[in-house]
Amino acid sequence: MTAPSDPASRVPAHVGIIMDGNGRWAERRGLPRLEGHRRGAERLIEVVDAAIDRGVRCLTLYAFSAENWRRPAEEVGGLFKLGEWVLRLHLHRLSKRKVRFRTIGDLGAMPDFIRVPIQEAVASSRDNTAFDLVIALNYGSRQETVRAAKSLAADAAAGTLDPASITWETLAGRLETAGLPDPDLIIRTSGECRLSNFLLLQAAYAEIVISPTFWPDFGKEALEAALAEYAGRERRFGMTGGQVRPAASPSA
Ligand code: IPE
Ligand code: IPE
Ligand code: MG
Repeated sequence: MTAPSDPASRVPAHVGIIMDGNGRWAERRGLPRLEGHRRGAERLIEVVDAAIDRGVRCLTLYAFSAENWRRPAEEVGGLFKLGEWVLRLHLHRLSKRKVRFRTIGDLGAMPDFIRVPIQEAVASSRDNTAFDLVIALNYGSRQETVRAAKSLAADAAAGTLDPASITWETLAGRLETAGLPDPDLIIRTSGECRLSNFLLLQAAYAEIVISPTFWPDFGKEALEAALAEYAGRERRFGMTGGQVRPAASPSA
């Protein structure tokens, strides 16, 4: 058995993935962008299975951002159809693996043909405890924060919440991720080095791994590589590390 201090045993409890690069994967092959999305959707289950097998407890997949509505209507429609297809294809097996589905993002603005099956999957998997699969759909961290702020403000206006009593925990309890652990690791595929409005507050101390691989090529091995990179990182949470020199004075 591996000692807890051995980096190889450090498995992140919660991994978030920004699944990026479908369009460039397709463009490099002279294929339509939607073909990249289709190949990306086909690959998804391999990564979910590998995360479960490696002992990750929660995986949040950034499937569609609140800003992705800016894309052409055929691309948006195609993405939603693929999402519905992937859910239908794998729901039974994931339920057998005791996966609990959850969503973050404004589902209310999604078309019925995808919103309804997702809500059904969330309801029917409610009692599963092995693994949380969180789908970020029509999600934006800033929009989520605004919704949380409005809910706190409404309670304060109604006199049921003392504004002076608000702590980070109070705010975190109004975010859509309430009850989930903060992500330990955020992976972004395709080499882009930005968060694109994904879990901005929750990722305050997440390790970020940028994988050069486009999402349609990102499988079990690429996930293993990202987990290995995470295992080798030193997390500090504001403290000093073992070999850290004293911080330079602010005036230096
Ligand atoms: C990720 O791939 C899929 C979504 C954002 C929904 P992209 O479509 O962003 O691919 P690139 O970044 O254009 O290559
Ligand atoms: C982020 O990717 C959103 C998802 C992966 C769903 P984008 O491709 O939309 O991000 P930007 O526009 O390059 O920052
Ligand atoms: Mg992109």
